[in-house]
Amino acid sequence: MIIRSAASDRLGKTFTTPGKGFLYGGDYNPEQWSEQVWLQDAELMLQAGVNVVSLGVFAWGKLEVADNVFDFGWMDRVFAILHEHGIAVTLATPTAAPPMWLIEAHPEIMTTDASGIRTGQGGRLGWSPSSATFRRYALRMVAALATHYAAHPALALWHISNEIGNENGYDFGEETAAAFRAWVQARYTKLEVLNLAWGANFWGHTFSSFAQVSPPRVSRTNHSPALLLDFDRFTSSALLAHYIAERDVLRAITPEVPITTNFMVMRSGGVQDYAAWGNETDVVSNDHYTIGTSAPRHEELSFSADRTRGIAHGAPWMLMEHSASSVNWQGRNASKEPGELTRNSLAHVARGADAVCFFQWRQSASGAEQFHSGMVPHAGADSKVFREVTALGATLGRIAEVTGTSLPRADAALLWDQQSVWAFNSTRKAADDIPFHAMPLAIHAALNHHHVSTDVIAPTDDLDGYRLVVVPNLFLADEELTARLTAYTNGGGHVMVTYLSGIVDPTCAVILGGYPGAFRDLLGIRVDEFYPLFNQESRPIVTTAGAHWTASDWTESIELAGATSYATYTSGPLSGSAAITQNAVGAGTASYLSTRLDTAALDDFVDHLIEAAGITPLASAPREVEITRRSGSAHDFVFAINHLQVDAKVDLGRPSHDLVTGCAFDGLVAAGAVAVLRVDRR
Ligand code: GAL
Repeated sequence: MIIRSAASDRLGKTFTTPGKGFLYGGDYNPEQWSEQVWLQDAELMLQAGVNVVSLGVFAWGKLEVADNVFDFGWMDRVFAILHEHGIAVTLATPTAAPPMWLIEAHPEIMTTDASGIRTGQGGRLGWSPSSATFRRYALRMVAALATHYAAHPALALWHISNEIGNENGYDFGEETAAAFRAWVQARYTKLEVLNLAWGANFWGHTFSSFAQVSPPRVSRTNHSPALLLDFDRFTSSALLAHYIAERDVLRAITPEVPITTNFMVMRSGGVQDYAAWGNETDVVSNDHYTIGTSAPRHEELSFSADRTRGIAHGAPWMLMEHSASSVNWQGRNASKEPGELTRNSLAHVARGADAVCFFQWRQSASGAEQFHSGMVPHAGADSKVFREVTALGATLGRIAEVTGTSLPRADAALLWDQQSVWAFNSTRKAADDIPFHAMPLAIHAALNHHHVSTDVIAPTDDLDGYRLVVVPNLFLADEELTARLTAYTNGGGHVMVTYLSGIVDPTCAVILGGYPGAFRDLLGIRVDEFYPLFNQESRPIVTTAGAHWTASDWTESIELAGATSYATYTSGPLSGSAAITQNAVGAGTASYLSTRLDTAALDDFVDHLIEAAGITPLASAPREVEITRRSGSAHDFVFAINHLQVDAKVDLGRPSHDLVTGCAFDGLVAAGAVAVLRVDRR
């Protein structure tokens, strides 16, 4: 694994230089256990191939036992045991869990919800990033911890807090209100500019003083979408500022130790603009948990991994947390099927992870997460989970040479913009029950079904070299993006835009003159009205190639203004008008998808797009087999992950060697199995 920091040496010496192997481990909370268990833990870790643990994530109350009274004794002993066993430490700043004494002395550090109720003790996070008191106490704890462990040879990496923004996403308290006001004043400087940007003439909500600006507390109707969007922007930067404050303390004390913090890139609606956060870390880390039991949950996992790699600008990244089996927070929590733990872990690796870690090492006996799985479950080491954990450690050892390689620039890019997520969710639209994630995930999955590599990137990232750029639900677009997509298309690129893209500008104001205002000219169309469909309603459409598809969820009346129709409604109020369009732009094309297609139809449409863009799939294989490629200096490594319950035939067109089985690859991947194939560079 490559750590972008002066500290690469420290990690590199042990296990993170290219080809030297994966970081493998998990959150370790020894403070929940007796010292006898610590020794057993270290032995079991060795048995499982674990080489790193995240320590101290929620241990503030055990490290600073009273105001300015520190006790590092127990953690010193844990460090010693781990180090003796050759296990490195990702040391967490423990600020995710403020101690009881701090909340008792300063209840004002806690967040207040939109209706004015302050968070009490008993949970975690919960603090306000705008609280000066919290910041002071947190940074003192961080400095004490960093000073104490600066010279310890087991210290490999800093892990700042935990999922910042998870349980302290929004704060509506007075200190935040003052900070928000200052942020708004700095952004807009003049009241006229603010009133215009927030569309404040609506309901006569004009501000005659910046003092009237307030967070979007409970009101009986929707707030101004522009205000909500700005409150999201403010919240993301307030949380990031807290991360940066901790990071800067660590950098001053241990400049050679790299720093990360664990993201939750699939947290729906998220309050963090991770594209900006990623640039502030030395290595990007992500936490991922599969949801529910429905079959395509691996498709959401793949999207998560591709998005994490996009935030890392293609560099290897860390899977900081996933679960060894079930979680305990979904109502019904599915246990992992035999083999799923390995399949999920390697699916992250296939898309660029060089670290595979879990929450948590040993399943808790007590506390709020006692029924969340761990690498060592309640049943102990004699269990399916621990056997699979150990087998995974061995598998990671066998494929060690993959580390440090990276996925080459993909053929397709899919633009994901957190500003668009916020804008999309901030306003009441013709259909408010369409989740933002649905369309990006569906198209990403369709590209996967065709074995086309996809980078999930920010709209500000470079588009050069992509053959196809997908623009799904990019609700908010600025003029620069329009210009860049137009230049990309003129230069021979192929763009596919979906409905609910390019609708508003960066102040959340509708771009007038017909939808999608930002991309009307590029697409050669003009939409004059939305026609969402209800419940089970659907509309038949036929393509110019004669395929019959079904449209659902959303339709629009499109006027062609240069584009041609690729698929047309054959009944209903829009009968005869276009559902999918294509526009020739310079040397490229710009297509528009104005409705939702079912999986089979979307697969067909994506087939048409990749053919038009001249993309060659990575392999020939059934659609349920995920194929990715990581490239090293001498070899490529192809991952083939079979999600079918039968063996699958995979044709790479090249001889290859399966690192997992240690054999020449015979073209078959067993049901539910993963092949990691070393192939010569073409
Ligand atoms: C994560 C969190 C962990 C643990 C886990 C349970 O969001 O970072 O500390 O709570 O969820 O799934």
